Amino acid sequence: MSQARLKIEVARAALEFVEPGMVLGVGTGSTVDAFIEELAGSGIRLGGAVSSSDATTRQLREIGVEVMDLNHTGDLDLYIDGADEVDEHSRLIKGGGGALTREKIIAAASRRFVCIVDESKCVKTLGEFPLAVEVVPMARAFVARKLVGLGGRPELRDGFSTDNGHLILDVRKIDLLDPVRMESEINQIPGVVTCGLFARRPADVVLVAGESGIRRRG
Ligand code: A5P
Repeated sequence: MSQARLKIEVARAALEFVEPGMVLGVGTGSTVDAFIEELAGSGIRLGGAVSSSDATTRQLREIGVEVMDLNHTGDLDLYIDGADEVDEHSRLIKGGGGALTREKIIAAASRRFVCIVDESKCVKTLGEFPLAVEVVPMARAFVARKLVGLGGRPELRDGFSTDNGHLILDVRKIDLLDPVRMESEINQIPGVVTCGLFARRPADVVLVAGESGIRRRG
């Protein structure tokens, strides 16, 4: 089965968590794109959605979902999003699409985070995929030096600016054997807005699409 097909399968499986009338947190990326399409076809009418990116906002509006401000909704019952890597403890690397900050805010503000991936995203140890770190532009070089000090090899994501007007450093080779500790260390560097490690607040449920069907953890 193609990866695109697996994304559609896992997107469809996530619909079982969605209840009519709920205000849903919605992530970003190609798996979420598939989820939004499946949602449109499902006939489920949401009360609204909180979106993690401008791209997701556009898509939600196209299918007639009202996009709401997290400042007005309070905490959410459910957040659905993809990931770049998932380990056995449902800890994630996210941010390949650059939407990590809003994604992390919505994940933190949600009672349940359902992560939807195809099996290519499952890893034993996080860190093969470059770790995105969103930085305030004036701190770019300073943060990069600190990340080198932590053992990483940061590289500026060329020509990219986040929806929040910040830059992304993609970090390779950083030791993520203890992702909770590294998430805290990186977050404490002045100028860092967010890093793409979701270890302190992992997913509650992970749905994995593979050749033999959908596997659920959590
Ligand atoms: C967006 O910033 C990311 O966190 C995405 O959730 C992640 O990159 C997964 O994207 P795909 O579903 O496109 O693989």
